[in-house]
Amino acid sequence: MNQLINDKDKKWLDDTWEKITNKLSAVTDRVGNKIPYTSIDGKFIEVGDMVMKEGELASRPKGDINWWTNGFWPGLMMLMYDGTGERKYLETARRNMDRMDEALANPLKLHHDVGFMWNISSGADYRLTGDEMQHNRLIQATAFMMNRYNLNGKFLRAWNSKNWRGHDTIGFSIIDCMMNIPMLYRLSEETGDERFKMIAMSHADTTMQDHVRPDGSVNHVVEHDPVNGGYVTNHPGQGYNGYQYSSWSRGQAWALYGFALSYTHTGKQEYLDTAKRVAHYFIANVADTDWLPLCDFRAPEEPVLYDSTAGACAACGLIEIAKSVDVLEQKLYLNAAMKLLKAMTEKFCDFNPETDPLLLMGTEAYGRKGGEHISIIYGDFFYVEAIQKLRKDIDFVW
Ligand code: GLY
Repeated sequence: MNQLINDKDKKWLDDTWEKITNKLSAVTDRVGNKIPYTSIDGKFIEVGDMVMKEGELASRPKGDINWWTNGFWPGLMMLMYDGTGERKYLETARRNMDRMDEALANPLKLHHDVGFMWNISSGADYRLTGDEMQHNRLIQATAFMMNRYNLNGKFLRAWNSKNWRGHDTIGFSIIDCMMNIPMLYRLSEETGDERFKMIAMSHADTTMQDHVRPDGSVNHVVEHDPVNGGYVTNHPGQGYNGYQYSSWSRGQAWALYGFALSYTHTGKQEYLDTAKRVAHYFIANVADTDWLPLCDFRAPEEPVLYDSTAGACAACGLIEIAKSVDVLEQKLYLNAAMKLLKAMTEKFCDFNPETDPLLLMGTEAYGRKGGEHISIIYGDFFYVEAIQKLRKDIDFVW
């Protein structure tokens, strides 16, 4: 695939990597034991350190070691360790992973995002170094995930709440989970035990049927009948809430990359076709806004609300598709990924080593005050992952 990238773009990628390493080397030296979530005045803060102002949703619990994004900083450190060979990144990641053991020890507080938390941190470490302690963590997280499978509904349960906007979430699956199931594929590949993969594929099949719409847009939150199985309804979730068929761009990106990865791990053609359908819809929407993704592709024109994290994750997904399709199709997806990355690099990136966050202008959820146009750690993670996927064709992450 690398041969399809022209020399000018290769140079651009190498220059960008150099700016990333300059910045992240300095940030890593000062971040210590912290597990960053967002930033205030250019300084990383943990999710528990967010100051809630009046009128803001208390959606980010204080001091929450179970918070779904806690694997992204150690995951980013693993990307940096792989890219530079410098041990300080590995050591920083491992300090974070030690802290996260408190979450593994309290499974009642955990949720389906254990894939985000441990696959890209401990899983990536295990795949790069063979460290047994990391493997142990990965196995525990995967075993927990298997417990969330609903046998009749054929889906992995997302959340634990009995009262999400007035609903019990026992029958809920969300599109984000497509990024949690690669952990199950990985464990099957590592152990030769196919049960993890069977459950991941069963969930992906249900998601393909109930979340992905015929036009390539996706439902964020789907409610299934938890006893008999079957689609009940969908809920807009983190997109624009005024329209049931709204199109939350990060949800689109989760589907795009998630189905592409499901194809990589299983070879099932329908997953690749689904990833392509979602990608075509994503590309059509961002091409209309100079390759800077809006937070919801079907929101009112005002306010103009971007979400850079959707663009960074989608870029990774587009590169994954390019790896999987025939040579004559690859350029479409590679070009789109490059356009997203270049647009966001120009408008949304901060390479100054004195400040902590790299990718700005992320949005947690449409209309969540205090969570719009902020830095969010998974934006940094996916941005760096996309650059490294293009430079080195890495495959140890998901
Ligand atoms: N997985 C939750 C989010 O994307 O914000």
